[in-house]
Amino acid sequence: MTLYLDSADRDALAPLLATGLFAGVTTNPLLLARAGLTSADLPALHDWAVAHGARTVFLQTLGTDVDQIVREGENLRALSERVVVKVPATRAGLTATRRLADSGVPLLVTAVYRASQALLAQAAGAQYIAPYLGRMTAAGRSGYEEILAMRRILTETTLEILVASIKDVEAVIALAAAGVPSFTVGPELAAKLLDDDLSNAAAQEFEAIALAGS
Ligand code: G3P
Repeated sequence: MTLYLDSADRDALAPLLATGLFAGVTTNPLLLARAGLTSADLPALHDWAVAHGARTVFLQTLGTDVDQIVREGENLRALSERVVVKVPATRAGLTATRRLADSGVPLLVTAVYRASQALLAQAAGAQYIAPYLGRMTAAGRSGYEEILAMRRILTETTLEILVASIKDVEAVIALAAAGVPSFTVGPELAAKLLDDDLSNAAAQEFEAIALAGS
């Protein structure tokens, strides 16, 4: 079971990476834009994330044709061994994934909305697949059922499901309980995972009792 942080915002990432509980960072062009960054900032963001404890940094390619995506993927992987290249689950993206996988690049197929795409990601040689749970649900698809179907499809493979676009803690609990192995959460959801009111109250009670007895 592995947790990642879905953000490019250094101020939000820093305290969460410092906990040591999150294995790395996932980014995409939307998250870069939300942080006031562009793909030109990826090398610096990569260096910063690694320096702040990210063991794996997922960086996404841009491009609409296969050759462009392959070139971008090779450039991103060249940053370090900690980079996993993210490629959208389009025909060109999956084709580029196959070519990049054949040259040894670790890959995540992202923007996945249907269980059938798990078959394609496996055929493309990816190591991870990122279903967009929140967006699947918003589009009227049963994100939870699609992801469970992906898990059944991938049972005999090493292709790892890394759920993204997660809107609440309950979704993480339900899918983790069903055996889904990895999740990437935004900073706000990460804080909700970390801070349980009852746990904090119990710890404060222990401190108060200890203080009174000292
Ligand atoms: O990693 C996917 C995420 O960044 C995009 O989905 O729904 O959080 O905008 P959403």
